Amino acid sequence: MNSTKLVLLICLCLLVTVVRSRCNKGCDLAYGSYYIEQGNDLTRISSYVNTDIPRILSYNPSIPSQDSITAGTRINLPFSCDCINGEFLGHVFSYGLRSQDTYDVIANRWYANLTTAAWIQRFNSYNPNRIPDTGTLNVTVNCSCGDKDISKEYGLFSTYPLRLGENLSTVSSAANLSSDLIRSYNPNADFNAGRGLVYIPARDANGNYPPIESSKGISGAAIGGIVVGVVALVLLVAGCVYYRFYKKKNAEASASLLKNAQVQLMQAGSGPNGTSVGGSESSGLPVGASPGLTGITVDKSVEFSYEELSTATDDFSLANKIGQGGFGAVYYAELRGEKAAIKKMDMQASREFLAELKVLTHVHHLNLVRLIGYCVEGSLFLVYEFIENGNLSQHLHGSARDPLPWSTRVQIALDSARGLEYIHEHTVPVYIHRDIKSANILIDKNFHGKVADFGLTKLTEVGSTSLPTRLVGTFGYMPPEYAQYGDVSPKVDVYAFGVVLYELISAKEAIVKANGSVTESKGLVALFEEVLSQPDPKDDLIKVIDPRMGDNYPLDSVRKMAQLAKACTHENPQLRPSMRSIVVALMTLSSSTEDWDVGSFYENQTLVSLMSGR
Ligand SMILES: Nc1ncnc2c1ncn2[C@@H]1O[C@H](COP(=O)(O)OP(=O)(O)OP(=O)(O)O)[C@@H](O)[C@H]1O
Ligand SMILES: *[C@@H]1O[C@H](CO)[C@@H](O)[C@H](O)[C@H]1NC(C)=O
Ligand SMILES: *[C@@H]1O[C@H](CO)[C@@H](O)[C@H](O)[C@H]1NC(C)=O
Ligand SMILES: *[C@@H]1O[C@H](CO)[C@@H](O)[C@H](O)[C@H]1NC(C)=O
Ligand SMILES: *[C@@H]1O[C@H](CO)[C@@H](O)[C@H](O)[C@H]1NC(C)=O
Ligand SMILES: *[C@@H]1O[C@H](CO)[C@@H](O)[C@H](O)[C@H]1NC(C)=O
Repeated sequence: MNSTKLVLLICLCLLVTVVRSRCNKGCDLAYGSYYIEQGNDLTRISSYVNTDIPRILSYNPSIPSQDSITAGTRINLPFSCDCINGEFLGHVFSYGLRSQDTYDVIANRWYANLTTAAWIQRFNSYNPNRIPDTGTLNVTVNCSCGDKDISKEYGLFSTYPLRLGENLSTVSSAANLSSDLIRSYNPNADFNAGRGLVYIPARDANGNYPPIESSKGISGAAIGGIVVGVVALVLLVAGCVYYRFYKKKNAEASASLLKNAQVQLMQAGSGPNGTSVGGSESSGLPVGASPGLTGITVDKSVEFSYEELSTATDDFSLANKIGQGGFGAVYYAELRGEKAAIKKMDMQASREFLAELKVLTHVHHLNLVRLIGYCVEGSLFLVYEFIENGNLSQHLHGSARDPLPWSTRVQIALDSARGLEYIHEHTVPVYIHRDIKSANILIDKNFHGKVADFGLTKLTEVGSTSLPTRLVGTFGYMPPEYAQYGDVSPKVDVYAFGVVLYELISAKEAIVKANGSVTESKGLVALFEEVLSQPDPKDDLIKVIDPRMGDNYPLDSVRKMAQLAKACTHENPQLRPSMRSIVVALMTLSSSTEDWDVGSFYENQTLVSLMSGR
């Protein structure tokens, strides 16, 4: 290895870091502010933007029906704002070509200046003078997801093409926002030019300004960038030190450093054990920093060998199997003196997901099941701390276990709420669980609750091309906005948590099967909604409380929890409380029910069994 090559490599690495960090993640929603000219109509507009009319109308509450759009006004066209080629935020529409179309006409008329001829041309191979009469064209429209350095309160933006006669003050009064705010998002825009794009904070379908989607999970690209950055830094330091020693002609030191640098580069060049963990995806990284990147950046202490796991589970024997989930089986193991649960998943982890796993092993909280480590030989194995007492679903729905006393239920609710609050607000990156349900809340030996499987939805997200796609989430726990539009926010977890609260009260499944028939089944949310909407729900509430608790519960406390659950499952995500306020509410509930009768409950149980002659 000569020093010039080393320097070249460092430069390349730095370059890649810079290029990769231009944008990393888009957002689910952005608008195009579309100016309607005389003669245009929603049917045509909806075809240009590949979105059906009802969906467009849902984002324009001031327009009562499709026939009432007026020329000379603007409408919001919803679309997802994606990170395109890692370079900029935009959305690519597919436009069906017609005769006489030119890039200019398409940009100025059909897309109402949301893009320009030049910007369309960049994403299409057609010569501008020989655009075919049929076929499709890529029409790229720029967008914005906000800027957390300006304000976290605005996360939805409208791409707004300026028109002649408009200026900063007309635009800001139309949006009812301060000129300063709009200027701060468009520092270089010429608002008096009568053309050009600006980005304006916008309201969602409910009339609220949605906050910025907290950087829920650094994206794969960003992690890639960071990892490459770290490698570059290591090499840079190594390079500098090497040079200093070289200049001093300290032969011994330079020889050994050189050797070190070579070893590092060799490790970086070939994957661990010669297996390519990155799969077949091409990464665009420079040679020497390619697939086996994990070999030097991933902490070995969390990586287990297949042999070690196999020995610890008696060759994954049936006797050691403790569970079966949607992704694969779970085995009990004793590993390095610690009790562990090993989840064997029938899939390959992508390089991005390995980076993600590494992050997950650093998330520690009393109410989260800890990820100890993993193994990527053959299948993907996740090693978790072992939780003694099974999952909440088994305690509530099975008859194999004693019924949980009310105070324990409140405690488990509080524990899981704390776990969720932690991943929503305190981890970096922040996580949304997306699959909260009673089966994912494990119970430890002291009957405390711990949230399992957080961060795993990344598996379906990051490597979606190479992995089996699975609907993330479970029916009965999914809020309407997620089931219908795939809108993801922390409020998705809040809704599912509300369903778990109803389960704690009633011990019924999230979907209640009437007479065992699926067609007559009803969600727990609807069932409680009916009960709680009555003027005096007391009697009906008592009827849906878990019969296994007998009369051993403070009705007031149950009623409060039901009301909390109702708030959590509000149809409008914005009106659901945050996990933080749920924790506060449950703390209050818990202190008023504390040890309400754990003792007397068991005494009563004994009494009952004594009286029934046992
Ligand atoms: N860390 C653990 N300690 C003890 N038991 C566990 C642990 N993790 C999982 N289990 C047991 O294995 C079962 C299956 O777990 P898994 O998470 O794979 O499935 P799931 O949550 O039911 O389904 P899905 O994969 O669809 O989320 C759990 O319900 C639980 O009883
Ligand atoms: C787009 O811009 C051109 C030139 O400024 C203008 O003539 C045209 O009316 C604009 N189109 C729309 C729909 O605003
Ligand atoms: C879209 O954004 C890119 C990158 O910032 C920029 O080069 C391009 O000119 C923009 N296109 C339009 C139509 O404003
Ligand atoms: C549109 O974009 C896709 C994907 O980038 C590309 O394969 C296709 O050739 C483009 N269409 C045209 C007409 O260039
Ligand atoms: C902005 O435009 C309005 C209406 O066209 C005009 O009355 C106003 O003076 C303009 N303001 C500025 C600062 O140019
Ligand atoms: C404009 O915003 C102010 C506060 O920012 C609010 O009081 C007012 O009602 C808003 N006006 C309209 C028309 O939305």
